Amino acid sequence: MNEQIILPEPDPIPLPAPYWLLKFLLVLTFILHIIAMNFALGGGFIAGITDLIGRKKSNQFYTNLSASLSKMLPIATAFTITLGIAPLLFVQVLYGQYFYTSSIIMAWPWLSVILLLIIGYYGYYIYQFNFEKLSGIRAWIVLGSAVLFAVIGLIYTNNLVLMLTPEKWAQKYFTNPHGTNLNFDDPTVIPRYLHFFVASISVAGLLVLIYGLGKINKDEKYGRWAIKYGGLWFVIGTIVQYAVGIWFLLSLKKEFLLLFMGENSLATIIFGVSVLLSLLSLILILLSFNALNPKPLAIGGIVSLFLTIAGMSIMRDILRNAYLQNYFKPEQFDVQIQISVLLVFAVVFVAGLITVGYMLSKVLKLKPTTA
Ligand code: HEM
Repeated sequence: MNEQIILPEPDPIPLPAPYWLLKFLLVLTFILHIIAMNFALGGGFIAGITDLIGRKKSNQFYTNLSASLSKMLPIATAFTITLGIAPLLFVQVLYGQYFYTSSIIMAWPWLSVILLLIIGYYGYYIYQFNFEKLSGIRAWIVLGSAVLFAVIGLIYTNNLVLMLTPEKWAQKYFTNPHGTNLNFDDPTVIPRYLHFFVASISVAGLLVLIYGLGKINKDEKYGRWAIKYGGLWFVIGTIVQYAVGIWFLLSLKKEFLLLFMGENSLATIIFGVSVLLSLLSLILILLSFNALNPKPLAIGGIVSLFLTIAGMSIMRDILRNAYLQNYFKPEQFDVQIQISVLLVFAVVFVAGLITVGYMLSKVLKLKPTTA
């Protein structure tokens, strides 16, 4: 096929900080965004399904848990959005010419994210504030919102993969210049998306487990139940993830796949360590189910899993640079360091993280309401 490559000029404005620092902040804030997103998206599915099981079994534990989750979901959504803005800024600074172009090619689906987000967010609030009043249909409302969030994730994956393949832009744009394109003809889009989706279920399962750890001293039976119940979502999700992860790897072009199979030693080490950490976390969480004191094992499992997410996010970035290696030359960036801007960012960022930590500790202490 004759590929026509049209690449916009990079932004002439110099970078306000060294490339490595912006890159570090991009990956760091992406990790934070994706963890919050996992709680918001996976948490919505778990809340809805748990609610349905609670009604079917007339079991108060399930209903109590979905009531508690109903209070966490709007907060997790707010974190997802706020923590999404930071990587959005860094992506635009570093990869603007790629990100803007792909966003224009699929403009309508891309813009629809805002509408989907508003409706989904609304649904989460309706679920929280009318939990008792809505009884029968509330589970469907929260599941509806979770599906909308799942569609948002799919649109993100479409765009973030399209931005990596400038060789497809001209053909896509000239065939359909109306901004209604998607990127499903790329064989990596579905497995890559499922990798994020399944992870969100697993990580939200861990949120339930963490919630159970917080409850164990006040109500041991309920706390232990929540640890096992959330842990089970995590374990099943993670086992499914091994199959999806392999599918994603195999869907990559051979040259990219080989990066993680020895060709690039950093990528290979991070890949190996991340997979081992995910296994460790699976084992520790399973062991915590019947332990006399589940806390140390569960905390070990949670830490291992968060390190896995960090490792996978770094791999994702290595993959992005590999895709763009023929176009993206970081050494060509002009840099004009703006210390004052960087300092303001650092102070606000740290203060923001402290606030988030404080709010999370408050949420975890919430008393379950009965329905
Ligand atoms: C419920 C809503 C959201 C969901 C489910 C979601 C999901 C995702 C997913 C799955 C990815 C990774 C896609 C991939 O690499 O294939 C992603 C990346 C990203 N998201 Fe979100 N997102 C949401 C909201 C937002 C919002 C509101 C913003 C911005 C304000 C945002 C900013 C970003 C950015 C900038 C990236 C890419 C970062 C990078 O490439 O390093 N997200 N999101």
